[in-house]
Amino acid sequence: MDKLGSIFLPPAKSTIAGEVDALFNFITGTSLLILVAIMAVVIYLIIKYKRKSDDDVTSLNDHNTALEIVWSIIPVFLVVYVFYRGFTDYIKIGSAPDDAYEIQVIGQKWNWTFKYANGNTSPNELHVPAGRPVKLVMQSRDVLHSFFIPDYRVKHDVIPGRYTSLWFEALEPGESTVFCTEYCGTSHSDMMAKVIVHTGEEFDQWLKESGGRPSDMPLAEYGKQLYSKSGCQTCHSIDGTKLVGPSYKGAFGSTHTFADGTSAVVDENYLKNSILNPNAQVVAGYAPVMPTYQGILSNDDIDAIIEFIKELK
Ligand code: CUA
Repeated sequence: MDKLGSIFLPPAKSTIAGEVDALFNFITGTSLLILVAIMAVVIYLIIKYKRKSDDDVTSLNDHNTALEIVWSIIPVFLVVYVFYRGFTDYIKIGSAPDDAYEIQVIGQKWNWTFKYANGNTSPNELHVPAGRPVKLVMQSRDVLHSFFIPDYRVKHDVIPGRYTSLWFEALEPGESTVFCTEYCGTSHSDMMAKVIVHTGEEFDQWLKESGGRPSDMPLAEYGKQLYSKSGCQTCHSIDGTKLVGPSYKGAFGSTHTFADGTSAVVDENYLKNSILNPNAQVVAGYAPVMPTYQGILSNDDIDAIIEFIKELK
């Protein structure tokens, strides 16, 4: 498979992808061959045995043992072969090598968060080293999601209340896309993340530098980055458009009325509480669907997002 992929498949960018594609192509190719062969025989027989006159009756022929053995034995071998290949690949995909680099994955409506061994998190961006097996330990905060990287040919459900895992080894530096492939609500189709594959050294460097806000970056600017990286933009617009949640534009200092009839002025405390405990006060007219960002955004991150919201007059 070349880098652009074929007409059927996206580019194959992991160590396992070649084997998965080979099996896929084998099944597709064999099915096509059998289809063509059967159709050819059917057409041949239609023409050969077309009734030519009223008393043209075909002789009775109730079976042919040799033919029946052939058309039973060949498919049995094909099915056993496909099962064998599928099963060995399935076992390989299911068992991560012992030296795999482990990354925690949290899925929630509607974003992915990745947590690394040193405690750093990166929302909606999965950073991995090339040429090294990576194991993802995944969990869901709310409903069933499914983690899918087409370029790597790996997919696994992410289930509330239990861990699931998958592993892959990216072949070379580059980018790929993660999709959620289990319908999980309004913004399911926006639940995407990017895989960024670094060289080994670049990855170590990234891990060191990725811890939060660069010291020379203003809070509001960092907040703007977090707004698009952490999945806020899926539900909250910054231009007044009504999405799944209230727009950030002009929110600060305004009064929000809640589903239970009470109201409050939007200030720092209200915003912080809405990020950590979103369903305590749900603005009237909106569904209580926001997940908590407890454990995903640090205090500094939350301060930055609040600063960003303040600037959206
Ligand atoms: Cu998460 Cu669909």
